[in-house]
Amino acid sequence: DHAYDMIVVSNRLPVDYEEQPDGSTGWRSSPGGLVTALEPVMKAADGAWIGWAGVADREFDPFEHDGISIIPVPLSASELEEYYEGFSNDTLWPLYHDVIAPPSFHREWWDAYVRVNRRFAEAAARAASDGAVVWVQDYQLQLVPKMLREVRPDLVIGFFNHIPFPAYGIYSQLPWRRQVIDGLLGADVIGFQRVADAGNFSRAVRRLFGYRTHGTVIDVPKEDAASDDPEVRRVVARAFPISIDAEGFEQMARRPEVQARAAEIRESLGNPETIMLGVDRLDYTKGIRHRMKAFGELLRDDRLKVEDVTLVQVASPSRERVETYRQLRDEIELTVGRLNGDHATLGHQAIAYLHHGYPRDEMVALYLAADVMLVTALRDGMNLVAKEYVACRFDGDGVLVLSEFAGASDELRQAVLVNPHDIEGLKDAIVEAVRMPRRERARRMRALRRRVIDNDVAKWSADFLETLTGAGIIQAGIT
Ligand code: G6P
Repeated sequence: DHAYDMIVVSNRLPVDYEEQPDGSTGWRSSPGGLVTALEPVMKAADGAWIGWAGVADREFDPFEHDGISIIPVPLSASELEEYYEGFSNDTLWPLYHDVIAPPSFHREWWDAYVRVNRRFAEAAARAASDGAVVWVQDYQLQLVPKMLREVRPDLVIGFFNHIPFPAYGIYSQLPWRRQVIDGLLGADVIGFQRVADAGNFSRAVRRLFGYRTHGTVIDVPKEDAASDDPEVRRVVARAFPISIDAEGFEQMARRPEVQARAAEIRESLGNPETIMLGVDRLDYTKGIRHRMKAFGELLRDDRLKVEDVTLVQVASPSRERVETYRQLRDEIELTVGRLNGDHATLGHQAIAYLHHGYPRDEMVALYLAADVMLVTALRDGMNLVAKEYVACRFDGDGVLVLSEFAGASDELRQAVLVNPHDIEGLKDAIVEAVRMPRRERARRMRALRRRVIDNDVAKWSADFLETLTGAGIIQAGIT
């Protein structure tokens, strides 16, 4: 049994197991921001990745994929329902995204969450070498840090939360609010997307546990401490805004065949003056309806003409067994049908709606074809689509309309920033983006690109891991 010095633990592996209708099977790169962000790090580190293979009731032996050691963790069909679809995506996801949809609280879901988190922790405990670095990812696995520390106190444990951490007034609704924070505090470093998320977390720690915090450091009393001034473990909780492989995206955008594909896309839409683009998992946090409402009213009021402007909306299928997501799909598709029915002509559709996931080169071609990129999330941890768009625009053109409720807005200040709840404001922003003079577009894109290129995912992971190993040294009493 190989022991690894660096382990990433996440709900989803970078590969999904797939069975085709013809019976053939294989491993396919899985979608999602997390994988995009961590794959380059793992390829460089010769580490192991622990996670779920994307299908229920199947056990797989560890294997190598693309130079990464993969250690699959099995989930039963009922665990999928209760831990993944239930607690992770119908309790935590809506709660952490400011209750845009109402969260459901079920004790059986919580029990499954605890059980599955323990399985991930045990897998990591088995695979980790002495003193290894274990980096746990995201809201599905918040109990893993503490569970892991209990059995392997030698490890250096990091946690990164890819989604927002809500204000205390919302967080405190969670019946298991103490257990979750206690689980997270098993880590040496807890990373968040935004400074505001880290602040919300520290406040929750103070409110629920009364632990002292100074700046980004939390004093967590050691378990056996009894006196008034107990010995503490220092836990760092701060922002590490995640990013993308900016160079990789730019290189792909520079490929002649990708540029040819971008021209072909424009052509197939009838070469409209302006192509607007939305790219999202089909999720109620993304503000897709708000975007369509604004666009529909602009067409209705003749501020935009269907001959001049087409909206391409890529909505990749997501969490389709969760009821809220089914309802959302119905609503979106009803809206698309209405909008096209009301505004399309035989030669020009208003919205080209695509309920598919696409490979990266096709996404890059879409980014190149898009004059205006619409990111109108109601709440989003970061939103890597915004950064991908910017990274691809080596031509210095294109306008990013960006919600201030996406973490990316902390960094991408030269975007056209919007509050997607303010439909009038959103309409004005869309018109501003469509009409923006070439020089102004170039000026903004230059500044956006500098930001994204200088702060890529390699820098993100290096920052986190440096902080983590630094913290590990401090804990071990070496300094
Ligand atoms: C977000 C989450 C990830 C998740 C991804 C896709 O980016 O932060 O943890 O993997 O969505 O969602 P899914 O439920 O399909 O893994």
